[in-house]
Amino acid sequence: MAESCSRLKPYHALVGPPGLPVAGNLFQVLPLTSFHETLEGWADRYGPLYRMRIGPMRMAVVSDPDTVKRMHRERPHRFRRTRGLQAVAAEMRLNGVFTAEGDDWLRQRKIVVLALNTAHLKSFFPRLALTAGRLMRRWERAADSQEPVDLCRDLMRLTIDVTTQLAFGVEFNTLETSGPVIQQDLDKVFPMLHRRINAPIPYWRYVRLPRDRELDRALHRIRARVDEIIREARERMRAEPSLYTSPTNFLEAIIAAKEVKGLSVSDEDIFANVCTLLLAGEDTTAHTIAWTVSFFLRYPEHFARARAEVDAVIAPAASVESIEQAARFPFIDAFFNEAMRLKPVAPVTSMQSIENAEMLGHLIPPEIVIIALNRRLATRDEHFGNAARFDPERWLRSDTERGCPHDTSAFLPFGGGPRFCPGRNLALLQIRTVLAMLCRNFDLKLERPGRPIEERLAFTMMPTNLVVRMKRRRI
Ligand code: HEM
Repeated sequence: MAESCSRLKPYHALVGPPGLPVAGNLFQVLPLTSFHETLEGWADRYGPLYRMRIGPMRMAVVSDPDTVKRMHRERPHRFRRTRGLQAVAAEMRLNGVFTAEGDDWLRQRKIVVLALNTAHLKSFFPRLALTAGRLMRRWERAADSQEPVDLCRDLMRLTIDVTTQLAFGVEFNTLETSGPVIQQDLDKVFPMLHRRINAPIPYWRYVRLPRDRELDRALHRIRARVDEIIREARERMRAEPSLYTSPTNFLEAIIAAKEVKGLSVSDEDIFANVCTLLLAGEDTTAHTIAWTVSFFLRYPEHFARARAEVDAVIAPAASVESIEQAARFPFIDAFFNEAMRLKPVAPVTSMQSIENAEMLGHLIPPEIVIIALNRRLATRDEHFGNAARFDPERWLRSDTERGCPHDTSAFLPFGGGPRFCPGRNLALLQIRTVLAMLCRNFDLKLERPGRPIEERLAFTMMPTNLVVRMKRRRI
């Protein structure tokens, strides 16, 4: 290794955007809500591996497909999530499977994967359908009263209600709640995580600004609610001991793993993982559906085609009635794949190497934060022909019909390798069910068509200004 390392160029030999003496590139990456777009733009100028700095934090930004895929693949033994993310998450008591490393990660990952597997999803589908029905009634009420609908907000109500039922066996029903809901507190977490992991100094450890105090209050309320959920699950299990041997959801499975199998999982791990699943399943799925709807609004001809597909499968019913039906929408699948290709909710992933890593002829030491530009891979003509064009059809054509690149290994909306998103199947089921319900029952238009729909990164990437008017469809 020493010999091969000596042939590699050092990190500081990389090119990159010039910065200021102390701040580095800090002021160029503000506002952080467009951090990913700034980095993608620099990749055009500085190439597939460049360096940048935010205060003392040195970074390498990579968009070379093989290197990005290798980083995803070689976890957790060669690459890990950033130490900064882990520290910030630990301060918020959110150090669950998403930020765990090594054996801790493996233990927690096994339980999460089991709880979200396809067999569970099949038996869970009726509850998912019921929840989608609640969203439909919410939208019918909005249509009847001519109230505008903030799509991201409503969809987050759906995704929280789904996650809490599937993963914890708890009915939140925020879709039919009019007062304050847990989403308002969860909403504070991702933007602050994003802000803190990219902060040049951890100011909040010394001074609490109003936004930090607001986060503290939100976390306090989330903790109280999550503690209650865990206490109720323990009581349920004591009353029905068969749940220790045959747990019905993630929470019961992790409690059983600790209390029966003696697995090394602390109460803190249980707490952090409940919060992790709440957060990981909420914004991601809701924003993916929201982005997809934004493309329906732009391409009415595609909306009409999706609607015809749904009608042919589910009519005369108003919504999807079985998991098998949800798998019979090839055009809708193509459509939301295309939406995820251009608007993935995780356009970048940050990692660090465990030891010195070789990347495109350079030696990247473990203290460097490596940012993989996932979206850039899927938006290059060499991977997807005419990549800038929104073209759902590309997912339906065969290789010969297409006659241009269609490299699905460069499409990473759910990440890749051993830390690939374990909630993917649940997410896909929700996406298909909700889009089908929307196509079948509603027409919609933007409340303010003149306002552009833009990308806003706050850990996940959401669309702005997606407020719509719903109208009941005349069938
Ligand atoms: C469209 C919806 C979703 C998208 C686009 C998405 C995307 C992602 C991505 C990009 C990662 C990082 C993967 C990596 O590092 O390679 C991830 C991780 C994760 N996701 Fe999702 N996700 C979605 C829905 C969900 C849902 C519904 C759940 C569960 C309720 C979930 C739970 C998780 C967890 C626990 C991790 C951490 C995995 C680990 O570190 O081992 N996700 N997701």
